[in-house]
Amino acid sequence: MLDKGSSGLPRHIAIVMDGNGRWAQLRGLPRMAGHRQGAENMRSIIEECLELGISFLTLYAFSTENWKRPAEEVEYLMSLPGRFYERERHLLHQYQVRVIAIGNLDEIPADTKEVIERMQAETAAYRRLTLLLAFNYGGRAEIAMAAERLAVKWQAGELETITEEDVANSLYTAGFPDPDLLIRCGNEMRLSNFLLWQSAYAELYFSEKLWPDFKGPDLRRAVAVYLQRERRFGGLTLNSASQQEEEV
Ligand code: FPP
Repeated sequence: MLDKGSSGLPRHIAIVMDGNGRWAQLRGLPRMAGHRQGAENMRSIIEECLELGISFLTLYAFSTENWKRPAEEVEYLMSLPGRFYERERHLLHQYQVRVIAIGNLDEIPADTKEVIERMQAETAAYRRLTLLLAFNYGGRAEIAMAAERLAVKWQAGELETITEEDVANSLYTAGFPDPDLLIRCGNEMRLSNFLLWQSAYAELYFSEKLWPDFKGPDLRRAVAVYLQRERRFGGLTLNSASQQEEEV
């Protein structure tokens, strides 16, 4: 379906991994079983990204709103980075995947923070794929944080104006490209506070599949749809632009 090495592939794919709870419910299992399966599914998508040659993958693992869930579920979600690293560590090294967390790590349990920092430090040199793990992440909180950072600089007289670039450079994702393709699984059609600034021109793709069932071929399908889309970034298509020139 997709040519390996097709030009125009997305450089950065971001995914809202939704549907773990329903996946478990459909099987009469506790919600935690869905999260476990969901965490295991990360490997298939990482491997598919490597296969396709995608450089950046952002996965929404825990939102600033997820604290509202029952304590037992939150506790389990907080244990996932450690379980993931234990299970996939050798593969991250073998595949040369760099892991970087985006989100407020100061509010999460110390042992979870410690394992995320270890994972970041141990994979810091890799560049084949960068996995941005959105953990205790919220798009609005991120923009508020950027505003605060810029206010401090402004007050110190370091800024005369505030540009889009200044804002982008004050976000967790400073230095990383914006997502080209944003996928949400689980048959819901909203962004849920994910990469609000960065997704301004991302192509959106919604899948009915629940995240634990969203596999490599599903990612390829999303990328194939992306390749059919025409990205104009607010401008005109090449055809209509040249047509206009002819008309002038
Ligand atoms: C949303 O599904 C999913 C989450 C809140 C958690 C997603 C996390 C993972 C898939 C694994 C994270 C892994 C690491 C390594 C941190 P939901 O529970 O809201 O699903 P539902 O809508 O069916 O209830």
